[in-house]
Amino acid sequence: MTALLDDPLDAAALLRAGALVAFATETVYGLGADARNGQAVAGIFEAKGRPHFNPLICHFAEAEAAWAEVRADDRARALAAAFWPGPLTLVLPRRADCRIDLLAGAGLDTLAVRVPAHAGALALLRATATPIAAPSANRSGRVSPTTSAHVMEELSGRIAAVLEGGECAVGVESTVLDLAGGGAALLRPGGVPVEAIEAVIGPVGRPLPRHAGPQPTLRSPGMLLSHYAPTLPLRLDAREVSADEALLAFGPPLPGAAVTYQLSAGRDLREAAARLFAGLRALDRPGLRGIAAMPVPGDGLGPAIRDRLARAAEPRE
Ligand code: TXA
Ligand code: MG
Repeated sequence: MTALLDDPLDAAALLRAGALVAFATETVYGLGADARNGQAVAGIFEAKGRPHFNPLICHFAEAEAAWAEVRADDRARALAAAFWPGPLTLVLPRRADCRIDLLAGAGLDTLAVRVPAHAGALALLRATATPIAAPSANRSGRVSPTTSAHVMEELSGRIAAVLEGGECAVGVESTVLDLAGGGAALLRPGGVPVEAIEAVIGPVGRPLPRHAGPQPTLRSPGMLLSHYAPTLPLRLDAREVSADEALLAFGPPLPGAAVTYQLSAGRDLREAAARLFAGLRALDRPGLRGIAAMPVPGDGLGPAIRDRLARAAEPRE
């Protein structure tokens, strides 16, 4: 069911058609989708069985292609010159005209970008001619795969193909550096040592607790992120809606809302996931009392959608 491919052109054709393809990078295998295609990106979360939407890294064939989507300052350009292609991921502000799907960035105003140093990955990125969103190609809660056989163990039958790329040379994930604010903060230690980064841009904040032993990844980096949340209060599992509320519909819409955004008329969870962040943004308008979200079922991508809505519904000051 899941094909093992040798030719990047075959893998690129699948990606362009919206399918999921795992591919090797120098760090670990990634589970790739066309980063501009929301439904394809939603498929990543479905295949991994992730119970929530983490922001994904967008991979590019060259730095200039990344700078078309995010705003790079002098520090980002200096780091890219020093370490790209390579195992460094930069978190930067999305441009206003950024064409990367909102779900790939979990609705955030920032985007994680990198240019991988693996001939097969670069050939794939050039052949696809679109950025590729890819988390590590493991099932949720399992370790990152470094061979195509590992990927098959994790995801066979759940994705279209794996592009054979040999064994990953680095074997740990990329270093994730947040440059979106004024400072520089290490979000995840990885393939590029933080000291090497500091040699280029000066001091980097390390919000990690210092443990005696090695600490390859944060336990749950997603939890440290500030999540996108609408300004309006959000009401979950709405069974009715009033005239001064916006409605986030799933299936046949409740009547009477001031404005309605349809996540999926046919109750397709992948379509709903792909439209979720765009929907929250579209409904977040002044003059309304709040947003009422219709119930979403608990199977497939449903729990991830519900998790995201529950976070958006949490009271804020
Ligand atoms: O080496 C790697 O980085 C591999 C290969 C495939 O490139 N990818 C990888 O992706 O490890 P993933 O999804 O397993 O880890 C991405 C990390 C997560 O810790 C995520 O929270 C963080 O990057 N991240 C992504 N976008 C972010 C953003 N906008 N702000 C903060 N952190 C972000
Ligand atoms: Mg991972």
